[in-house]
Amino acid sequence: MFDYNVVLIGFMGAGKSTIAELLRTGWGMERIEMDALIEEREGMRISKIFETKGEPYFRDLETELLIELQARSNAVISCGGGVPMRERNVAEMKKNGRVVLLTAHPETILERVKDNHDRPLIENNKTVEGISALMEARRERYMAAADLVIETDRKTGEEICRELVEKL
Ligand code: S3P
Repeated sequence: MFDYNVVLIGFMGAGKSTIAELLRTGWGMERIEMDALIEEREGMRISKIFETKGEPYFRDLETELLIELQARSNAVISCGGGVPMRERNVAEMKKNGRVVLLTAHPETILERVKDNHDRPLIENNKTVEGISALMEARRERYMAAADLVIETDRKTGEEICRELVEKL
């Protein structure tokens, strides 16, 4: 039982949802998927929200949800990949959460996301180069937000969870 939240951040396909699910089943944490919750509340897929209401609208929903979630504890919050890009969001995460950054090389990310078509920011350029460019643009922010960084390439989900629980 954690008296704080574990906030998972990282690029699309870094493994946030997979690790959140393992922390739920193995460590009894409450799992919260920000993207899924937003989709449920809005009644549409992320790609549809981007298309019909625009990215700024989606980003505001993320901030509102993050504020709401900091009232909890013992939850693992799986953030959308863009959440740490707003400074306000990082401040909110840190109010009641330990922030864990999951990383993976662009090649690994591509392999993990190639069959999913609900990620509007990479859908038009799903290449190692496209992923590297966006990842590079985000790296500094991600690193600054993180209390702990875990590389996920060539590790099993169980290994990543054990590392997270030991080092946090
Ligand atoms: C985004 C990541 C997605 C989703 C949206 C925007 C981003 O979440 O929130 O498509 O800006 O990196 P995942 O990281 O869960 O794929």
